[in-house]
Amino acid sequence: MRFERKDLLGLEELSPEEINFILETSESFVEISERPIKKVPVLRGLTVVNLFFEPSTRTRTSFELAEKRLSADTVNISASTSSAVKGETLKDTAKNIEAMSIDMLVVRHSAPGAPHFLAKVLSCPVINAGDGSHEHPTQALLDLLTLKKRKGRIEGLRVAIVGDILHSRVARSNIWGLTKLGASVVVCGPPTLIPPEIESMGVEVSHDLKGAIRDVDVIMMLRIQTERLEECFFPSIREYSELFGLDSEKLKYAKPDVLIMHPGPLNRGVEITPEVADGPYSVILEQVKYGLAVRMAVLYLLGGGKFESENLDQKW
Ligand code: CP
Repeated sequence: MRFERKDLLGLEELSPEEINFILETSESFVEISERPIKKVPVLRGLTVVNLFFEPSTRTRTSFELAEKRLSADTVNISASTSSAVKGETLKDTAKNIEAMSIDMLVVRHSAPGAPHFLAKVLSCPVINAGDGSHEHPTQALLDLLTLKKRKGRIEGLRVAIVGDILHSRVARSNIWGLTKLGASVVVCGPPTLIPPEIESMGVEVSHDLKGAIRDVDVIMMLRIQTERLEECFFPSIREYSELFGLDSEKLKYAKPDVLIMHPGPLNRGVEITPEVADGPYSVILEQVKYGLAVRMAVLYLLGGGKFESENLDQKW
């Protein structure tokens, strides 16, 4: 199979076969970051620009490391230090960057659909690194890879996604990815933070954390997206934490082999306590580790994917 798409914009438009193909390709890249010399010449001569209009630690660092480990030339642009602050439009910014003969653009933006718009106006591949509360495809792919590595499968798993579902691009991309690959999903949070009609995405809804986590294989905790809260969605952080924060007491209601995931950044003591985040069920740092392999795979596939992934070992 070849990955025929020009861009990676979201998991909504990908088929289960395409998602599985990216995950299989990602597995080929895990080992490269464990080598003493963590570099292969897959994207040698190509230039990738990381254009971030929102803050990021994991995604931006991970893309930059992935690009460097694939031997691409990389440039990072933050909106706060670009001419966007002087009023330049997103389209003008992107067209000017493309005029410098770049080969791929990674973009994070607060506006849902911004990467989709850029994909239409640019000739080079565009990778969505998070667009508002819409999608975060590489986060969901790295979550799926973590589950595949830990549980050996996605099909048949039951996953609880807990917290601010309304504003979460991570939740949306994971719901698409998990349900397409045959997992069942329950979303759990206060009624004000669950989007209306989310059941149409094929998920169950719960407002009771202890009940929701009772029979699941995975608990994915989400941060309250304070940067997207324009009104009051719950009485207080303390009350939210008591009802929907995951601590050791509530964890007793879960299965003994449950996995705890979180996309980061963590609000320790709000949606998750330190003893759970750092405890034996947590795979939070494994998610970050697999994120690098997923981003290497996505860059490789969109950069041409000239080499068969199973031949990576033989080539380098
Ligand atoms: N998970 C995630 O997107 O983290 P950053 O905002 O730090 O990139």
